[in-house]
Amino acid sequence: MPNTRVLVAGASGGTGRAVLRLLAPRPVTVRALTRSASKTDRLESLGADEVLVGDLFDPDDAKNAATDVDVVLSAVGSTLRDLHGGEFVDGVGAQNLVSAAAAADVRAFVMESALGVGDDPASLLATAFDAVIGPIQRAKADTEAALRAADLEHTILRPGVLTDGPRTDTVQVAEPGAKLWGTVSRADVARLMAAAPWTPTATDRTFEVVDNPLLRRREDLLTIDWVDGPDS
Ligand SMILES: NC(=O)c1ccc[n+]([C@@H]2O[C@H](COP(=O)([O-])OP(=O)(O)OC[C@H]3O[C@@H](n4cnc5c(N)ncnc54)[C@H](OP(=O)(O)O)[C@@H]3O)[C@@H](O)[C@H]2O)c1
Repeated sequence: MPNTRVLVAGASGGTGRAVLRLLAPRPVTVRALTRSASKTDRLESLGADEVLVGDLFDPDDAKNAATDVDVVLSAVGSTLRDLHGGEFVDGVGAQNLVSAAAAADVRAFVMESALGVGDDPASLLATAFDAVIGPIQRAKADTEAALRAADLEHTILRPGVLTDGPRTDTVQVAEPGAKLWGTVSRADVARLMAAAPWTPTATDRTFEVVDNPLLRRREDLLTIDWVDGPDS
């Protein structure tokens, strides 16, 4: 059986680089997407088998990125300054990738979203945070909705505040609305992203993701047996 082909969108970012490092020793073929050709050497050194230069605001680039892959792991994101014609990559750009993946018969799509996205009840701190980055959160909510409506297996991860700390494997997940709040390392999120397509109990689900959540109700926390990819 041929290796699973994985697209990492946002590969040059904090989470994306952690995903590349995780996948490097595994029997998968990894395509890394970046807008900057100058990042090619770096992405290859992190384990990318192929680097594709493209911008997700361009539907043709999104199509090229999703063609001939089995799994999409999307860790793209922006700041409030990164507007493109009034849009954020978290919205229109990521939705171009969802459409392209569905058209290309991709098997599974994992999206890194964020705590507080969508209409589910959120913690007070997440709600306060939303007041600052609301436009990006709304763009992500639209992409979440597009992904749920698409003909794709999917997992949506809504992490808390990201850190560059080490992988702990102690992260906790809950259904949307559990109102988790706290931090989580990009390395831990990367681990869940890479595992989700091989974890049956993560299929077509959305999770709040936090390490050592504050003020959580124990009964809200889920036990998911994450399956670390093919022959990891
Ligand atoms: N910061 C937090 O505390 C926090 C909390 C919860 C969730 N999140 C979300 O988690 C995700 C990952 O965050 P991060 O900090 O690890 O990532 P990051 O370092 O901000 O990297 C973002 C990535 O997005 C890519 N990108 C941006 N615009 C693009 C476009 N038009 N086309 C293609 N790629 C594009 C960039 O690639 P190139 O520049 O190489 O093209 C970059 O690799 C984001 O969605 C973020 O909103 C963040």
